Amino acid sequence: MLQDKDRIFTNIYGIHDRSLKGAMARGHWSGTAGFIKNGRDWVVEQTKESGLRGRGGAGFPTGLKWWFMPKQESERPHYLVINADESEPGTCKDRDIMRHDPHTLIEGCLIAGFAMGAHACYIYVRGEYMREREALEAAINECYDAKLLGKNNKNGWDYDIYVHHGAGAYICGEETALLESLEGKKGQPRLKPPFPANVGLYGCPTTVNNVESVAVVPTILRRGPDWFASFGRDNNRGTKLFCVSGHVNRPCTVEEEMSIPFRELIDKHCGGVRGGADNLLAVIPGGSSVRMVPADQIIDCPMDFDSLSALKSGLGTAAVIVMNKSTDIIRAIARLSAFYKDESCGECTPCREGTGWMWRVMERMVEGRAQKREIDMLFDVTKQIEGHTICALGDAAAWPIQGLINHFRPEMEARIDSYTYRSDKDGAVLEAAE
Ligand SMILES: Cc1cc2nc3c(=O)[nH]c(=O)nc-3n(C[C@H](O)[C@H](O)[C@H](O)COP(=O)(O)O)c2cc1C
Ligand code: SF4
Repeated sequence: MLQDKDRIFTNIYGIHDRSLKGAMARGHWSGTAGFIKNGRDWVVEQTKESGLRGRGGAGFPTGLKWWFMPKQESERPHYLVINADESEPGTCKDRDIMRHDPHTLIEGCLIAGFAMGAHACYIYVRGEYMREREALEAAINECYDAKLLGKNNKNGWDYDIYVHHGAGAYICGEETALLESLEGKKGQPRLKPPFPANVGLYGCPTTVNNVESVAVVPTILRRGPDWFASFGRDNNRGTKLFCVSGHVNRPCTVEEEMSIPFRELIDKHCGGVRGGADNLLAVIPGGSSVRMVPADQIIDCPMDFDSLSALKSGLGTAAVIVMNKSTDIIRAIARLSAFYKDESCGECTPCREGTGWMWRVMERMVEGRAQKREIDMLFDVTKQIEGHTICALGDAAAWPIQGLINHFRPEMEARIDSYTYRSDKDGAVLEAAE
């Protein structure tokens, strides 16, 4: 279990003073000017050495991403954009950083911005996060007053941070849709390439990073990359915020060592599965956009990027959704299908048409009002969507259904059998498949 002395987020539950004074008392904003004196390359190298992988879902190495930014500033300014959209179902870690420990993020923004030669940073906050935005803005104002930000600040790198409040669309968490939205346009993803490091915000070199990815960097620099890399398994380093919800006795967000086994995470921090470990049915380990893992496979699995992708799932945002045997697993996945159908931006055909089609079929699967061959047809359609869309929302809509069919096909067939049996008895005519 991660010891308190190794926690980066020392106020994640909001029990201490979140103001600048309180943050400084807990060690934040110390030595920041020194990091900047060490130069851009030093910051990037330290971040690379720490093994930090992006915490926004895809797990791309953070230092490498910064290294892709042009080395010299041209007439086009560089920008850092922070993705605080956090709309992935089950995910609630960035909000705790912003409302309880905002200075970890603000100090991180300055250091990360410096590492990529940016003098301006935009933080794109989810539309529903009103209190979080207020806390963040108050903390930013404190930093301007204390001359930690702005022109000629004490840290030696001119830097401005702007907070932008989104309007509540899930798709605006996708980095290029976010950039479109920041520019005042409809939030729809851009085709890549060009990648944001070349053509990003206002056509200028931009890096988009998740809140947690950036908020951990100042502590990594203070304690050294080796300290961070001492947690977790190879290629899966560091401490990590897990947000655990669903059928556990005490749902929570907790900072733990990467690669902690699922059982330990749930037993130590969440009071175990409701009804005991034997009552576990399945887990969606990384926010709604990853495939579920059945109980016997997840129970002793290390919670990290590589272990979960070996199970054909993913760590995603580390939003761990626990489902015990009281769950109607077909209905649970149908609910996610409804979410993706609602949130599809409509830009590309496989996702626009496919999410609605999958949802309608899933609704019938919940009742069992389907034919067994439609399970294969449904799987086939998910494969037609996966990898054939402009952004990863298409994959995100397909994967939960694939996980259901891979692991719970007998349940789906049993539901169809039971519907057929009922219908036959009632003399009802079976509806044709859609
Ligand atoms: C539909 C969709 C929604 C996303 N929502 C978020 C989000 O709310 N927050 C986030 O950090 N990344 C989100 N992402 C991932 C971002 O596109 C991007 O990969 C991430 O911000 C990169 O940050 P990182 O390298 O620090 O992980 C989303 C991706 C997709 C396809
Ligand atoms: S995959 Fe869906 S959300 Fe993404 S661009 Fe296409 S229609 Fe829009």
